[in-house]
Amino acid sequence: MRSSAIFVAIAATAVSAQGTVPTYKSSLNMTIDPNTVAQQQRAVWCQGQTNTCQVLCDNNTDQNDCNQAQLTFDCTCASNNSAPGLQYYTQTLPTFICQQLFSSCIQSNAGNADGQDECKSKIQKLCATQNPPTIAEISKQAEASTAAATTASTSSAGHASTTSAEQSASSSASSTSSKGAAAATMAPAGAGVFAMAAAGLAAYAL
Ligand SMILES: *[C@@H]1O[C@H](CO)[C@@H](O)[C@H](O)[C@H]1NC(C)=O
Ligand SMILES: *[C@@H]1O[C@H](CO)[C@@H](O)[C@H](O)[C@H]1NC(C)=O
Ligand SMILES: *[C@@H]1O[C@H](CO)[C@@H](O)[C@H](O)[C@H]1NC(C)=O
Repeated sequence: MRSSAIFVAIAATAVSAQGTVPTYKSSLNMTIDPNTVAQQQRAVWCQGQTNTCQVLCDNNTDQNDCNQAQLTFDCTCASNNSAPGLQYYTQTLPTFICQQLFSSCIQSNAGNADGQDECKSKIQKLCATQNPPTIAEISKQAEASTAAATTASTSSAGHASTTSAEQSASSSASSTSSKGAAAATMAPAGAGVFAMAAAGLAAYAL
């Protein structure tokens, strides 16, 4: 009686040690027990998730929330009532969960190269590595498209507006050239390095 119970326990251990990693379609299908993740960490994950949802939806979401206790989220864009490709970007809940699952998979397969290979091919491969665009990049894109639209509408409105288009073209040219000057003026940093080197020399001389 007792020995057969022990045998069952050993068999069960052997099976779990073999550690067959489940096959996921994408990181969207990965789940994790929220209790295995520190509350503070979950807060950081949800912050990243809601920020990235906002950015990927061009700052116009239909649903954007993240449940820290459950580690679930809703993210749909207003433009199409669909989810953006969260699984392709870092700073999203699917990717945080993916990375966590990968790291615990590696740990639980310590000393088992085959098991760790499976962690890599079945989990890590699905964890995004590309950073989402930044809000700054998104608003730059929006500015550019607004400017393009303005140019298009003024150029169709006759001579007076052509002049203003020319003016804005020349002012943007001058702002470009002043930017160019600023970019070329790397001297302060170089001078600073030189000064530090000189100070270093002076210290050495003392
Ligand atoms: C994976 O997740 C997607 C999006 O949540 C869902 O549509 C799909 O049915 C899931 N597939 C599996 C096999 O669970
Ligand atoms: C919905 O729109 C967002 C941008 O507004 C885009 O990133 C996403 O790919 C779109 N989703 C689908 C399924 O077309
Ligand atoms: C995002 O939208 C909010 C209000 O909807 C607006 O105040 C903010 O300026 C927008 N940010 C960008 C980068 O477009």
